[in-house]
Amino acid sequence: MRKIAFSGAIAAMLVAAGGASAADNRELVKMPGQMQEHMLESMRDHLVALDEILAAVSAEKYDEASKVAEERLGMSSFELHGASHMAAYMPKPMQDAGGSLHRAASRFAIAAKDTDLDRSYPAMKKLMGALSEMTTACNSCHVSYRIR
Ligand code: HEC
Repeated sequence: MRKIAFSGAIAAMLVAAGGASAADNRELVKMPGQMQEHMLESMRDHLVALDEILAAVSAEKYDEASKVAEERLGMSSFELHGASHMAAYMPKPMQDAGGSLHRAASRFAIAAKDTDLDRSYPAMKKLMGALSEMTTACNSCHVSYRIR
């Protein structure tokens, strides 16, 4: 009898947990199918770029980390990902989140160049701060928007 009550409580907890994670309050941003494909493709490249940046930093190849950040995520990547084209479909705060990412990546690129020349603890610390600002920018958009 006690056993049944116990598993009942667990089931209730699982339902509650499942319910909480299923709640999706992200705003749906509608865009044409081809644009969606393009956006997701560019997103997957964002993650690959981030991975390459982390690998370069851990190998102390700061110059390379700087290059990847600027070219693939920074202000220079804006046209590479057709960002201005996609922006037309995005609400203003979403565009701003994109802008935050590009600016954070460009700041990281500069910090990585600095770290390449000055391999000190303070330089590293600044670099890690810039890295965190980049991933914060990814998440600030992800928590608010979806396209499907
Ligand atoms: C301006 C908003 C925005 C920013 C900034 C952003 N993303 Fe996204 N990302 C999205 C949206 C919207 C989706 C699609 C969510 C959905 O509807 O499934 C997405 C999806 C993804 C996906 C899944 C791709 C797929 O094929 O399913 C990955 C991976 C991803 N983003 C990585 C990143 C990384 C890494 C960063 C930061 C370097 C980042 N994103 C920054 C908006 C953004």
